[in-house]
Amino acid sequence: MKKLALGILGSGRGSNCRAILEQISAGQLAAEARLIISDVFDAGILDIAREFGVPNAYLPPGKFRTRLEPAVEMELVKLLRDAGVELVVLAGFMRVLKEPMLIAFPRRIINIHPSLLPNYPGVEAWKQALEAEEKVTGCSVHYVDAGIDSGEMIAQRKVPVMPGDTAESLHARIQVAERALYPEVIARFCEA
Ligand code: GRF
Repeated sequence: MKKLALGILGSGRGSNCRAILEQISAGQLAAEARLIISDVFDAGILDIAREFGVPNAYLPPGKFRTRLEPAVEMELVKLLRDAGVELVVLAGFMRVLKEPMLIAFPRRIINIHPSLLPNYPGVEAWKQALEAEEKVTGCSVHYVDAGIDSGEMIAQRKVPVMPGDTAESLHARIQVAERALYPEVIARFCEA
């Protein structure tokens, strides 16, 4: 069976990446992780890549805080193309992608966000939901466009906010849902 070639980008711990790689290893996802890239030198996601034997790279992001320097973003496109990547999976990647990536991979970049978008885009979305006294929040997988957490919705999963929840306990519950939802959504791309 043909396997969908994934490129996974992340800046942090990589628990979503791990969930995806575990499903691939278990034969439950007809995909292949071709390349894992981080803009953070010591990000956990790179350790996970090494643990699973996936080619990986640290990409020094350049002088900007919230995006990649244009030349760096062009290098990212080249790395992903050279690896034959068909679907770019953002798993906790903390930089906004711009034209080089958006043009190179139209409707082929997806992101997971810890809220029911369009509510609470941006950072620490679970804290925003808690502060707003929501009873239900969740996570969203969406296409990436030029905005922040604004692309077309693909799938969402609801998560209850429990009495006494802290930011940490709520975030942990959302992440459990994320780790189930993201591989499910990627599986849809494998079938397409
Ligand atoms: C997740 O909560 C995801 O929704 C957000 O960044 C976090 C990444 O977590 N975009 P991890 O690195 O996958 O553990």
